Amino acid sequence: MSEIRFPLIIVNFKAYTEVEGEGALALARACAEVAGESGVSIVACPPMVELGRVASSVTLPVMAQHVDHKTPGSATGWVTAESVRRAGAIGTLVNHSEHRLGMEGIRSVVLACKRADLRTCICADSANSSGEVAIFAPDMVAVEPPELIGGDVSVTSAKPDIVIEAVRAVHQIDSSIPVLCGAGVKNGQDVKKAIELGAKGVLLASGVVKAKDQKQALRDLIRFV
Ligand code: G3P
Repeated sequence: MSEIRFPLIIVNFKAYTEVEGEGALALARACAEVAGESGVSIVACPPMVELGRVASSVTLPVMAQHVDHKTPGSATGWVTAESVRRAGAIGTLVNHSEHRLGMEGIRSVVLACKRADLRTCICADSANSSGEVAIFAPDMVAVEPPELIGGDVSVTSAKPDIVIEAVRAVHQIDSSIPVLCGAGVKNGQDVKKAIELGAKGVLLASGVVKAKDQKQALRDLIRFV
């Protein structure tokens, strides 16, 4: 995974109005600037419709928020792993809390991604399910308790044990798979705590996307990394 280093910050743009059209490019540029000045590895996950434009405009690893398992060809309206790779993405989130796939769905998407040389970060809602999805040999697992997503309290303060246990569960399957955590992560203290708990980074959205000053929020996030 040459384009990604750990500790890693993945910024999921989701589908917020702030990242429609030019907003996605502006946030990706802010991510690239902060990554460049700090040397910290930041990945941008723009909305699918902006993926190609963002990937060709910024020097920053870009991942999709989702891909489908379909093979290229007769697949109207589906998004293939190959097309996402060709658009310039290096990887994708899989099974995000807002786009659940089920175990069979995860398995087929991860296979499609491996076929297309696309990195995978499988999201899971608990420590147990983090261990369960590790059997698919993803490049990363991100544990995110759904009830904390989009809120003001970070998983690292509200549920630190879930991070510790997710790392343990994943590493029982394969100790080389990095585990990230997310939900409510907002600042540098949250990222510092995540790393102390054994995570290799964070997956976050609203703390950056909805910040008044997105660049400042990014600088704050990485200040202890
Ligand atoms: O994908 C990141 C996510 O679900 C967490 O969202 O807004 O709590 O950082 P947020």
